[in-house]
Amino acid sequence: MNAAPSLKVADLNAWYGESQALHGMGLEVGRGEVVTLLGRNGAGKTTTLRSIMGLLRRKTGTIRFEGEDIAGRLPEAIARRGIAYCPEERGIFASLTVEENLLLPPVIAEGGMSVDDIYALFPNIAERRTSQGTKLSGGEQQMLAIARILRTGATLLLLDEPTEGLAPVIVQQIGAVIRKLKERGFTVLLVEQNFRFAAKLADRHYVVEHGHVIDTLSASDVAANLERIQNYLKV
Ligand SMILES: Nc1ncnc2c1ncn2[C@@H]1O[C@H](COP(=O)(O)OP(=O)(O)OP(=O)(O)O)[C@@H](O)[C@H]1O
Ligand SMILES: [Mg+2]
Repeated sequence: MNAAPSLKVADLNAWYGESQALHGMGLEVGRGEVVTLLGRNGAGKTTTLRSIMGLLRRKTGTIRFEGEDIAGRLPEAIARRGIAYCPEERGIFASLTVEENLLLPPVIAEGGMSVDDIYALFPNIAERRTSQGTKLSGGEQQMLAIARILRTGATLLLLDEPTEGLAPVIVQQIGAVIRKLKERGFTVLLVEQNFRFAAKLADRHYVVEHGHVIDTLSASDVAANLERIQNYLKV
């Protein structure tokens, strides 16, 4: 990793009740990098993002963000430090309009994108700004879920399977958005099952199994190791 570390997770264990989901998880994301977590269903990818965001209380280990250990912090405090989470369920409010959804998360720091900038990045969201959340397609909801966290001033974006269940043309659009976010200096930790999509975007990939990292590949390792990666992801 060349960039200064933004996020560094080490020896992370996490539990749902009595059931341990993370077993010594560790990863690093440099400032301005796009890094993916790959792995089969139940590997612990979502749990890793939720732990970073402070949504899992029962855990041990360290989570350093911009040099500070945030492992004991509450989600609100972590959000205020500059981390934003876009969950797999997207969480668009059906009773609110697109613009109301967009304006919902509080601005926590300077440097977030303006509403105009966001609409320029997501022209289809701009067109639907007065539509109810319920009226959006799955792809539009996913775009809005990402758009919504860009205003806040967060610098690290945690994205959980943004392409899941979406048509190839929408997947491409999401790829283009993530590329533009990287150009703007955002740091992205991306959970993906769609490796072909992830491979084109990421600087590095972590393969997760049984709650920890079993392999790390840089973008330049990918071409020579496709079979190995496919084996990791095969059900
Ligand atoms: N709310 C929960 N309560 C109890 N166990 C859970 C809960 N959520 C997840 N788990 C368990 O924790 C482990 C890790 O799950 P996690 O959701 O992090 O996997 P994942 O890698 O995100 O999988 P997927 O690709 O299916 O989203 C699994 O064994 C799962 O069954
Ligand atoms: Mg998951």
